[in-house]
Amino acid sequence: MPSYAADSPALETAKVTPAELVRMKDRGQKIAMVTAYDAPGGRLADRAGVDCVLVGDSAAMTVFGREATTSATMEEMLLLTRAARAGVSRALLVADMPFGSFQVSDVAAVEHAIRFVKDAGADAVKLEGAGTSARRIAAIVGAGIPVVGHLGLTPQSATLLGGLKAQGRTAEQAERMCQDAVVLEHAGCCAIVLEAIPEPVARRISRAARVPTIGIGAGAACDGQVLVWHDLLGLSAGHVARFVKRYAVLGDEILSALQHYVTDVRASRFPEAAHTYSMPKSELELFENHVR
Ligand code: KIV
Repeated sequence: MPSYAADSPALETAKVTPAELVRMKDRGQKIAMVTAYDAPGGRLADRAGVDCVLVGDSAAMTVFGREATTSATMEEMLLLTRAARAGVSRALLVADMPFGSFQVSDVAAVEHAIRFVKDAGADAVKLEGAGTSARRIAAIVGAGIPVVGHLGLTPQSATLLGGLKAQGRTAEQAERMCQDAVVLEHAGCCAIVLEAIPEPVARRISRAARVPTIGIGAGAACDGQVLVWHDLLGLSAGHVARFVKRYAVLGDEILSALQHYVTDVRASRFPEAAHTYSMPKSELELFENHVR
């Protein structure tokens, strides 16, 4: 099991490492994580001081407009991770391992995790679940790749869980989740995402774990929080989960800008002189006097 033990505090501008996440937890400094799927998104998240950028398989829904995260492929996730990598320099860049990339065997899981690091430039990978996933996590960490775990509502298993709904709401389920968190930490996770679980359960897990918990719909006791880019910025169409806080309504702004543009083009108000290129007068005369 690797040690992410705290030593000296890092500068705010220094690259965030898995060990730094543990130091942040030790200092009581909350960790901010957000998803991003391209270079501009990664750059803005980095400039805003986000500590971890997650290229989530939520991209299957937010970017590709599909029904479920299970449809995300390795090739799609690699492409999006490579794009985000181009924008992120300070934050820890975490790539989500898509459904099917780690379930089959330890060997396949390690091979796919290596592709995220070598081909796409990820700093770490994230994978959902406990049980078999804990063995996969140990194998990937054994290959030298930091892993973020994910418990609670794990969308890749939504059908098995009875839909996209809160988990750990019975004492038995909550107890099992606490045990799963211990197993994930022992497997070598450098952080654990807790999705859609009651606050008291997240609080118990966060207190017991040496590594930070990153909550999404898990309350304020977690060591950090994560939100999906499109939800946070008001770009999601339709229903959003109750745990989402919208910090902007960019969808409306983008729509209004695009409508303005369409109106301008139709009315010949765009482009204006400022948007066009001139040529030297002498060249223009030659051009205009040229007899074809
Ligand atoms: O895929 C994703 O965006 C996620 C977050 C919701 C944690 O897993």
